[in-house]
Amino acid sequence: MILKGKKGIIFGALNEKSIAWQVALKAHNEGAEFVLTNAPIAMRMGEINQLAAICGNAQIIPCDVSKNEDMENLIDKSMEILGGKFDFVLHSVGMSLNIRKGKAYTDIDYKYMHETLDISSVSFHRLMQTLWNKDAMKEWGSILALTYIGAQRIFPDYHEMGDAKALLESYARSFGYRFGKEKKVRVNTISQSPTPTTAGSGVKGFNDFYDYANALSPLGNANAEECAEYCISLFSDYTRMVTMQNLFHDGGFSCTGFSADVFKLLENRK
Ligand SMILES: NC(=O)c1ccc[n+]([C@@H]2O[C@H](COP(=O)([O-])OP(=O)(O)OC[C@H]3O[C@@H](n4cnc5c(N)ncnc54)[C@H](O)[C@@H]3O)[C@@H](O)[C@H]2O)c1
Repeated sequence: MILKGKKGIIFGALNEKSIAWQVALKAHNEGAEFVLTNAPIAMRMGEINQLAAICGNAQIIPCDVSKNEDMENLIDKSMEILGGKFDFVLHSVGMSLNIRKGKAYTDIDYKYMHETLDISSVSFHRLMQTLWNKDAMKEWGSILALTYIGAQRIFPDYHEMGDAKALLESYARSFGYRFGKEKKVRVNTISQSPTPTTAGSGVKGFNDFYDYANALSPLGNANAEECAEYCISLFSDYTRMVTMQNLFHDGGFSCTGFSADVFKLLENRK
């Protein structure tokens, strides 16, 4: 049990397909104790209650990540429930208003864009700032967020999320420096393969770039469970010196230029 005695917060478990759901299951199996959180609106379906029950009756605290008061309340209450500071925090949150509303990248609605950035990126800074101000992280703790290679390369249908993820990854470096220097806490992002979740499938053409990535990557796409295993390793003491990194968990996609399987895929589609 590599997380025995460790305590933390897991954001973003919407349903069984969610990466955060899989992280919660594995963290529980590895001996961790944690609080689950999601946006109040996302809890309406009540699926998170089933997850909490499987995870040793974990407590659930609603938090809209775009609201300072929600974030403060979450950190305060979680410290009370868990009896002190955290060893790990997972930020597994993303949403694009312009994609949802069908706006083209060249016809962006800036009000929506602000909301997208607030929920998908600034929330990571807000989370870290709240943890910092409340001195809520233990030494050698681990803060982790999830991202996608669309932050570095253009996948046109990934739209404004590419910009949002670029900012998210930058926050991991900027805050990671300060957290490392002053509090001996590590901050990283995992850049995950396309994964068939609610957020993932919301991107136009998802199935096409899922198939493309699967054909290009020598190991194929990494699934949500495999991503969860990587997250657990980053919460564990075995990765204490890894910080300020964007870590690709993509079966080799990010380093591959061509594969015969991609060619076959295209031939088959003709
Ligand atoms: N699915 C993929 O292909 C893929 C690939 C790489 C990275 N990611 C990233 O993984 C993370 C988790 O996404 P997922 O694929 O598991 O999908 P998901 O839809 O299961 O999770 C996204 C979560 O964000 C939450 N959320 C949205 N707005 C919120 C708000 N205002 N406050 C609090 N929570 C809010 C949703 O309720 C949901 O639980 C996201 O950061 C996503 O961008 C996903």
